Amino acid sequence: MPLARGLTGRVELVHSRALELTLRRGCQPSGVFLLVDGRSRGQIRVASRAWHMYRIALALPAGPHRLSIRTSATRACAMPWLDRIDAVPAAPPHMALGAAVRWDIARSDPRYRAAFTAHFGSLTPENELKMEVVEPARGRFEFAAADGLAALAGSRRIRGHTLVYGNQLPRWVTHPGSPWTRDSLLAVLHDYISTVVRRYRRRIDTWDVVNEVIADDGSLRPTVWLDVIGPEYIEHAFRWAHAADPTARLFYNDIGLERDTAKARSAVRMLSTLRRRGVPVDGVGMQDHTEVVNYPRQSTLETSFRRFAALGLAVEITELDVGTLDGPSSPGARAEAQARAYRDAASACWDIAACNRLTVWGVGDAASWIGPAQTPLLLDGSYRAKPVYDIVRRRLHITNRG
Ligand code: XIL
Repeated sequence: MPLARGLTGRVELVHSRALELTLRRGCQPSGVFLLVDGRSRGQIRVASRAWHMYRIALALPAGPHRLSIRTSATRACAMPWLDRIDAVPAAPPHMALGAAVRWDIARSDPRYRAAFTAHFGSLTPENELKMEVVEPARGRFEFAAADGLAALAGSRRIRGHTLVYGNQLPRWVTHPGSPWTRDSLLAVLHDYISTVVRRYRRRIDTWDVVNEVIADDGSLRPTVWLDVIGPEYIEHAFRWAHAADPTARLFYNDIGLERDTAKARSAVRMLSTLRRRGVPVDGVGMQDHTEVVNYPRQSTLETSFRRFAALGLAVEITELDVGTLDGPSSPGARAEAQARAYRDAASACWDIAACNRLTVWGVGDAASWIGPAQTPLLLDGSYRAKPVYDIVRRRLHITNRG
């Protein structure tokens, strides 16, 4: 909106060390003055025609404040435009930008590896910790691919993805020689979770324990786990993961929890029941696979994050990508629409204290699971950072690597 004669409002702030104003000029450069609680606290010369974030360093105690913004512009067309004001917390929370990484590419492509290490501070194995890879035959565990990725991660954090999933299961689980009994399949699950979580103790600090178990109508998806064991497999999975590594943070992860849908409401109910029963679940992962034509807006995401945070859960965006094929036809307009979607997601994660990590589902467009033509990621087909990469980093206030 144009600033017109000025803007005054009461805001509730956390303990802050700076305010950031996103502004652009009108028909000519002009000045913007900031007053906090009636005191003049800084001025900005707004010269850029494009949106620009200006930072005013300012120690402010937590609590309600009265903010006023005035402009020196006198002609109507010269009034600067204000997009948003952000407070920078005095002790910034740890915030990480991560990517899903594939060992089949990483092992042979140095450019891919270098792109990951240069741009991201957290790693999620894209497929290497799924049961079909880790236990391809009963009792035969294969960790070479996951270990390769752990070495690539170096000192970065790793999200373990994922212990219990209805997809990417080995055939010996989905088509056993003789049918499972409840007890025999529970024993398989227990052995699997204990073995995998224990192996990466103190290396993988966050696990997607249970992935995508709710259907769009809110019921539990039919999987071999549900069919043979019943819904209790979910609770057992969290308890066994906790027993194997009591320090790990344990997540429920799903697609389509970003909006107020039957599925999202069912996830809230399920997680709230689990918490009430003392099941060790610490967070919820929002996959946020989306598209430029229909991405969840910042306010929608924040409403959803708050609903889960109110249960005492941490929130992460765990698999973000933004497909562009159905978007505008000009590449420039596509890139802009995509930048808006990413900006909204990153801003929501920054604004909600429970959210401390945003992970994109792939290092770059060339490696995306939905195909390079969708150009859905932050690095391009040659693993060069697109402008949207910097937008996300700025919105997450990440100054060092990822
Ligand atoms: C996808 C991988 O990206 C693909 O490489 C694989 O072929 C199928 O699985 N939700 C999830 C992820 O939780 O594990 C999925 O990953 C994408 C959807």
